[in-house]
Amino acid sequence: MSKDFPIEELRAKFPALGRAAPFVYFDNAAGAQAPQGVLDTVAMHLLDFNVQRGGRYPKSVEVDRVIAAARAKVAAWINARDASEICFGLNATSFIRMVSLAIGQTLKPGRNRIVVTDLDHAANISTWQALEPMGAEIVFWKMRGDGTLHLEDLLPLLDERVRIVACTTVSHALGSLVNVGQVAHAAHWVGAELFLDSVHYGPHAPADVQRWDCDYLVCSGYKAFAPHMGFLWGRRELLAALPFFREDFIPDEPPYKVEAGTFVYENVAGMGAAVDYFESLGRHLDPKSNTPRGAIETAMEAIQGYEHQLSAAMLTVLRDAGAIVYGIADPERAQERVPTICFNLPENHPRDVVLRMAEEGFGIRDGHMYAPRLMARLGLAMDRGCVRASLVHYNTLAEVERFGEALRKIAT
Ligand SMILES: Cc1ncc(COP(=O)(O)O)c(C=O)c1O
Repeated sequence: MSKDFPIEELRAKFPALGRAAPFVYFDNAAGAQAPQGVLDTVAMHLLDFNVQRGGRYPKSVEVDRVIAAARAKVAAWINARDASEICFGLNATSFIRMVSLAIGQTLKPGRNRIVVTDLDHAANISTWQALEPMGAEIVFWKMRGDGTLHLEDLLPLLDERVRIVACTTVSHALGSLVNVGQVAHAAHWVGAELFLDSVHYGPHAPADVQRWDCDYLVCSGYKAFAPHMGFLWGRRELLAALPFFREDFIPDEPPYKVEAGTFVYENVAGMGAAVDYFESLGRHLDPKSNTPRGAIETAMEAIQGYEHQLSAAMLTVLRDAGAIVYGIADPERAQERVPTICFNLPENHPRDVVLRMAEEGFGIRDGHMYAPRLMARLGLAMDRGCVRASLVHYNTLAEVERFGEALRKIAT
């Protein structure tokens, strides 16, 4: 597969990679690099269109056009039914908070349960727990020992008391994928809704809100080769019905009712350019792709396939270095995960591993990964945690080899 995946051509599109070399970006779960098209789009927006939207003069009209175009591109990226279901804003956390506050106002006795997981980022747990004073009852769907969530463990928690299930699409720490289509089916069976944190999923594989049949989804641009920004997708009729704060003069309809105030237009333009990047990769791989969505899907599938190789290679070098891998550790199971891997080296403090690896030219991260409950499940102290290496499709098997060599030096 890697011989078909145009890795060198793609790397050449990310100027940051060459500028930083021989440094290797292996901390992509905390934020990925941007391709030239994104850099150019952001710069051009600031240069030529750095004005407020909603005016009658051409530059302001252009800002509205850019935002509308970005909505359409993001809608194609996640397969939304309509661009008006895409709401732009600061980041994923603020959108989770916003939706949870709105859902909180709809809780009723007998329909007040919220299911969260112990695998998720705290952003998709604490925000829901904050609804307890509004009458929410929080129930935990617990992961299994190998860091995976199973439908059989969710089913006993589901009944007509559940208002919403909030879970991740893939773990930002352990890299394990969740079968969210099954979760949506089960949640809907009892009349509940499904809220997906897809922040970590975005750069790794094809997102498809229609196929998944979920109800809400959040994502952050900066994890998916775009600048710092976030977006919310929700079924139009659900967003239309939820009570969001808005000033009287803002139309009471999505996306406007969800987008309080001004957001960062240049970064939204950059998000649109990141989707263009996916689309152009898809057209390169399959020149017969005849819709933007088709090309994007082709690209994301190719990225996913290539990343399986990165996952398998990383798990192999970690095993050879004697690392304890949390979650799916068997290279044969690479298809069940993305190349985001938490581990520890026995006898080594995670902080020291990261510092030593920085000397070797690798950017990786240590700590609790904003997931205190997950750390507790793994038996790891919050002030120590573990090491996370997180790869995306611009990383290479050669980098993984080099990573393994450096790690083995530390481990011995
Ligand atoms: C899975 C997951 N959810 C939520 C967040 C928070 O996203 P944001 O920084 O956009 O608020 C992150 C950030 O690391 C994440 O990885």
